[in-house]
Amino acid sequence: MQSVLNILEARISEVMGEVSGQALRQCSGQAGCPALVRPATDARFGDYQVNGVMPLAKQLKTNPRKLAEQIVAKLNSATADKLSDICESPEIAGPGFINLRLKPELIAANLLQISKDADRLGLEKAEKPKTVVVDFSGPNIAKQMHVGHLRSTIIGDCICRLLELQGHKVIRQNHIGDWGTQFGMLINYLVNVVYIDAAMKATGLSTKTEYDLSSLRDTEELYRKAQERNKTDKSFADVSRYWVVQLQNGDEQAKRYWEKIVSLSLSESKEIYERLGVLLTESDIRGESFYNPKLPGVVAELKKKGLAVESEGAVCVFPEGFKDKEGKPLPVIVQKSDGAYLYATTDLAAIRYRVGELKADKIIYVTDARQGLHFEMVFAVARMAGWVKPQTELVHVTFGSVLGEDGKPLKTRSGENVKLKELLDEAVERARKVVEEKNPGLSEDEKKKIANAVGIGAVKYADYTNNRTSDYIFSFDKMLAMEGNTAPYMQYAYARVRSIQRKGRDKGIEVDKEIAQSQSISLTEPSELDLAKHLIRYGEAVSSSAGDYRPNYLTAYLYDLAQKFSSFYNDCPVLDASSDKRPTRLLLCDLTAKTIEHGLHNLLGIEVIEQM
Ligand code: ARG
Repeated sequence: MQSVLNILEARISEVMGEVSGQALRQCSGQAGCPALVRPATDARFGDYQVNGVMPLAKQLKTNPRKLAEQIVAKLNSATADKLSDICESPEIAGPGFINLRLKPELIAANLLQISKDADRLGLEKAEKPKTVVVDFSGPNIAKQMHVGHLRSTIIGDCICRLLELQGHKVIRQNHIGDWGTQFGMLINYLVNVVYIDAAMKATGLSTKTEYDLSSLRDTEELYRKAQERNKTDKSFADVSRYWVVQLQNGDEQAKRYWEKIVSLSLSESKEIYERLGVLLTESDIRGESFYNPKLPGVVAELKKKGLAVESEGAVCVFPEGFKDKEGKPLPVIVQKSDGAYLYATTDLAAIRYRVGELKADKIIYVTDARQGLHFEMVFAVARMAGWVKPQTELVHVTFGSVLGEDGKPLKTRSGENVKLKELLDEAVERARKVVEEKNPGLSEDEKKKIANAVGIGAVKYADYTNNRTSDYIFSFDKMLAMEGNTAPYMQYAYARVRSIQRKGRDKGIEVDKEIAQSQSISLTEPSELDLAKHLIRYGEAVSSSAGDYRPNYLTAYLYDLAQKFSSFYNDCPVLDASSDKRPTRLLLCDLTAKTIEHGLHNLLGIEVIEQM
């Protein structure tokens, strides 16, 4: 089902093109002039407004109000009746806006269509599906995932779900940091421990021959110690470098440790993805180590194409337009003077692989805003090298930081990064207290299930409601509140609709049958009409959310939906409604529940609960 907004846009654009006639051809050469139909800013004046008349008038050097009158006359004319099946007679407002109000018949017809499509709720698919690579999460190995990985992980997941819903082929890529000099340090340290252990064994103090890495927490602690030692002890640092080379060359012991560290890290991130409801699997992992063998080829090709040059011993590419503060060209260093490759080299190898092997039409990178310049420059170099076709889209989807109540990046009291696992544990624990308070009679199993859904849902939903480009302050109290645009509020709204339906069934009302048989819809009360209008606009919310990679458009829509449902339910009896009204109202309840469920569960990966 095409969204009303898109239909209006197409039809009015066409008429605008006809009215502007000759000038149309100069008007970007399309079969019309963009009508720029947008949801009305004030519901009193209608449901949509046409914003495109003023810019067109400016182009044609004519009076915008007059032009609006011509357009409306044409829209209304019997020969080119473009609107009467959708809207009431359009009205001109202000300097040249056209206000549109949907007809109740159209709303009713759309509601019926949506209700017949339980899986997709009438959401349309892209005309030309693309292959889209989405690069997100990307934790660094040997450390526990911390709050800094939350946003990339869940925003990336939502983007994948939105694009898949639109019919695109989505390839998830988890670009984990599993290669680099840090492993030299760690292996060096581990080997030392083994050496000490061996000595202890010889003296009968221990029986270990190889250090047994049992948890990621231990590994992280060893990593910290190794880092410290590396800083202060020059000969230790030299040996660490030796181990980097050993690892590169496939030394058995180095490889064994590396594999162990990677697998510990991965099993922890797997657990976190599962808890977060994030659809990333082991097969989506293409970490830095995957690209390592391809790096010499990347540098060689850049040299061969005359793009890479030696500069102060390093191999650099200078993409056009990038300058430092003094106006000197900025380099992308692809190989250091000691032969080492860099983060950027790996990203270049990744782009080449994604376009060349995965056949990506578009690559989306979800990382924090601080990596902006890195990606801009890498994209520029990849285009210079011809690894990306002109029509291939490269998008950096950025986000701000998670802050503590003091407005500074969220840290523990001792100043460390907050571990994601601990954050989620605390959210669930706090949600559990709320459940305990509100509903002490529930079974242990149910309490657990609800606390989990609410706790995890609250953390995710709070993140999604924020405009991703801004920083936000992390507050358990706010995200777990039953008031405002929070997960528990939305989950409650859903459970409430379901409980109305259950009550109806208990009273002997054949809810599903009534809904299925409601062929004629009667929308009479203002709040009923308002809810119905909002329901048919779910597709618009989904497409603007996907178009801008902004989950907050979707959460804003869902919150409005819950509020409109509340007003409707206050004003209109449902179970006790007269027999001519009840089927419509039951249908409105059902579509409200299904839409909330679809948004929360299918698109945001947040559990809904049947009763709270
Ligand atoms: N591991 C990186 C980090 O923690 C994120 C990876 C982002 N993706 C990429 N292709 N560079 O910053």
